Amino acid sequence: MNLRKCGLLMALSGTCLLAATPAEIETKINALISRMTIEEKLGQMSQSSFPKGLPDRARGEIRGGRWGSFFNGGTPQEKAEAQRIAIHESRLGIPIIYGQDVIHGFHTVFPIPLGQSASWDPELVRQAARIAAREASAVGIHWTFAPMMDIARDPRWGRIAESLGEDPYLAGVLAAAMVSGFQGEALDAPDSIAACGKHYVGYGAAEAGRDYNTTWIPETLLRDVYLRPFQMARKAGAATFMSAFNALNGVPASGNGFTLRHVLRDEWGFDGFVVSDYTAITEMIAHGHASDAQDAALKGIRAGVDMEMVSTNYYDNGKALIDARVLDPKLIDQAVRNILRVKFRLGLFDNRPQPASTPAEQPSREALEIARRLATESLVLLKDRNGVLPLAKSVGKVAVIGPLADSPTDQMGTWAMEANRSAVRTPLAAMRQKLGENRVVQAAGLKTSRDTGSTGFAAAVDAARAADVAVLFLGEESSLSGEASSRSMLDLPGAQEDLAREVAKVGKPVIAVILAGRPLTFHNLAEQVNAVLYAWHPGAMGGPAICDVLFGDAVPSGRLTATFPRTVGQAPIYYNHMSTGRPAAESGAEANNKFTSKYLDVSFTPEYPFGFGLSYTAFEYSNVRLSSPRIRIGEKLAVRADIANTGKYEADEVVQLYTRQLAASLTRPVRELRSFRRIHLHPGEKKEVLFELSTDDLAFYREGGELTIEPGAFHLWVAPDSASGQRAEFWVVR
Ligand code: BGC
Repeated sequence: MNLRKCGLLMALSGTCLLAATPAEIETKINALISRMTIEEKLGQMSQSSFPKGLPDRARGEIRGGRWGSFFNGGTPQEKAEAQRIAIHESRLGIPIIYGQDVIHGFHTVFPIPLGQSASWDPELVRQAARIAAREASAVGIHWTFAPMMDIARDPRWGRIAESLGEDPYLAGVLAAAMVSGFQGEALDAPDSIAACGKHYVGYGAAEAGRDYNTTWIPETLLRDVYLRPFQMARKAGAATFMSAFNALNGVPASGNGFTLRHVLRDEWGFDGFVVSDYTAITEMIAHGHASDAQDAALKGIRAGVDMEMVSTNYYDNGKALIDARVLDPKLIDQAVRNILRVKFRLGLFDNRPQPASTPAEQPSREALEIARRLATESLVLLKDRNGVLPLAKSVGKVAVIGPLADSPTDQMGTWAMEANRSAVRTPLAAMRQKLGENRVVQAAGLKTSRDTGSTGFAAAVDAARAADVAVLFLGEESSLSGEASSRSMLDLPGAQEDLAREVAKVGKPVIAVILAGRPLTFHNLAEQVNAVLYAWHPGAMGGPAICDVLFGDAVPSGRLTATFPRTVGQAPIYYNHMSTGRPAAESGAEANNKFTSKYLDVSFTPEYPFGFGLSYTAFEYSNVRLSSPRIRIGEKLAVRADIANTGKYEADEVVQLYTRQLAASLTRPVRELRSFRRIHLHPGEKKEVLFELSTDDLAFYREGGELTIEPGAFHLWVAPDSASGQRAEFWVVR
C-alpha cells in the first residue's frame, strides 16, 4: 500500500480509503491461516442469527472464535460490542461479517424485486440498491443476501415476488445493477455492502411451483437460462453467492460440486465465498443425499459451500472428518481463505467505521423520491377501456374501495423487516392528499384480501354510489407471496371478485388496481371493470405513485417481466419457450387444427405476454433496418428502428429487441430478449433507436458446457412486447 497517499487521504477524510492489493491480501490471509486452529477455521465457516441480547455465552463464543458471521438481528450497539470482542478479545482478532436480508430496501422500502424489474430501468434499480446499502451499512450491516435472480416460470411459486422476472438476460442486467448499487465503487467504502447472488441455482424451477420442491433442469437449459443471470452477477463483481435449498438433477444445490466448483469456481473464476441457505446443509439428510450430520458436512464442504448458515454440521463434524482422513484439510483452508478474502475486501480488518450509535431511521427525501419513481415506473397498465384513464383531476368524488387501499404492511411486500412504517404512504392517504379529504369516499369492503365475508359490501356499494368513479384496491396481502407462500390457485383470494362485481353493478366507471406478489388470474374482473393497473407490492411510496398514474401526473411505463396466464392450468408459462413440432396458431387455417399444441378449454396464449404494458399515449414502430442482411461470426449487426409517439402524452416507451434462430442443432426458443431501451418521447416526436447485436449474443450451450454460435437464418423483432413487433431477417455465416 502507498502509505504516503493513504496518509494524505486519512488527513482529508479521516479514513484510509486505499485498499490493499490482491497480493497483499493473500499474504495476510496465508499468515492468518497458518496460525489458526481447526476450531477457529470451522468457526469462520459458521454463521448464526445474531444472538439475541448478546448474552454472556455468546460473548464467550465470540472470544473463542466460534462464529465467522451473524445475520438478521442485533442492535447497532450490540453489533459493535460483538465486533469489539471479536477484534480485541479473540486470539486472532478476526472480525465478524454481519449479513442481513436487505432485499428491496431497508428503512426505505422499494417495490418488490418483481415490481422493480417491471421498470426495465437498471439505473433506477441501481440507485435503490445504493440507498439500501447506505441505510443498512449505517447500522453496521456488511453484507446483504441479495440480489435474488432465480428464474421462475410458474407464478404459483411464492418467491417469484423476489425474482427479477422470467427472462435470463433482463434478470442478469438488473441483478448486475443491484450488485453495483449495493457494493458501490469500492467494497471497503463505509457505505458499501457485499452482495450475495442467490439462490444458486435452479431454485425457481420448483416442480408444480411448490416452494423447496425438486428441480430437474437439463444442463443446456441450466446454462442458457438459470445460470445466466448468476454469471452476469459474477461479472458485475458479486462478492458472495448463496447455495439454494432445492435438489438439482438429483443432487442438492448445497452439495452440488458441478454447479459450485466446476461452474462457479473453475469456469467463472469466482474467488469470494459461498454461504448455504438457512439449514440447507442439514437438509441434505431429508433430501436423501446425506446419511447423517457428518456426511452432510462432508458433502457441503466438498461441494464448495464455504459457510454454513444456522445449522452446525461443519463445526460439529469437521475435525472428526479430518482426523479420520475422510476430508482433505486443504478444502477447509480453501473455504476459510474465501471467507477471509471477502472480509479483507470489505475493509473489516482495517477498522471499518463502526455505525453511529443512533443512526437515522427516517428515509431521506432522496430515498423517498427514488422509491416513488421506481414504484411509478413499475406500474403496468393492463387495460384502459375507452381511455377512462387518466382520471381528470376535476372528477368529482372518488370511492376508494378494497382491502389493500390502506394497508401499509401489505403494500410493502415480502421483505420489510426494518421498514420505517411512518414513511409508508398508502393509496388512500395519497388520494386524500391529491383530492382533499371531502372528495374521497372510503369503504374497505373486505378486511383483508383473504376475507370471505360480505358484510362490508353494502358500505362499499354506497361509497361507489356516492362517487363519480370507484377505484378498487384488490390483490394479495404480502404474506401470500415470498418464501413458503406458494399457491395452487392464482385467482384473487377471498371474496374480492364478488366485491368487485357488486361495485361494478352500480354503473360508475371502475378502476381496479391490483397489488400482488405474483401474476394473478383475474379475467372476469378485467371484463367487468374499465381499467386495470398492476401495482405489485409497490413499497413505501406506492400510494403517491399509483395516484400519480391514475391522474396522469405520470404516464404508465412498466412492462411485464413475467407472463400472465389465463388460468393456473397454463403454468408453467413463459415467452421464451420452444416451438414444438405442432405449434398452435391463433388465426388462419391452422387455428382449427385440433392436433396442435394447445388446450381444449382455454387458449394456448397467455392473458398478458411478457414485455406487455399499455400507455396513455400511442407508439408507432416502423422502419426496422439492419446494417447488413448477413453477418459473420464475430461481427456486429446494427439494428435501427423508428419509434414515434403518436398520442397526446409525453411518455416513456420500453423498446425491446428479440431474436429467433430458425434452425439449429438444438431447438431454440421462439423468441429471446437480446436488448432493450427505455426512451422518452414527446407527443409527435420520433426517435431512432439503435441496437448493436453481436453474434456472441446469439450463442447457446450444447451438452457438456460448450458455448456455440451456429450459422443460420434468424428472425429479429423490434417490439413493444414479446408477442408483437416489427420483424426483420438476417443470416449468420461463417
Ligand atoms: C431464505 C433466504 C434468506 C435466508 C436468511 C432463507 O430461508 O431462503 O433467501 O436469505 O433465509 O434469512
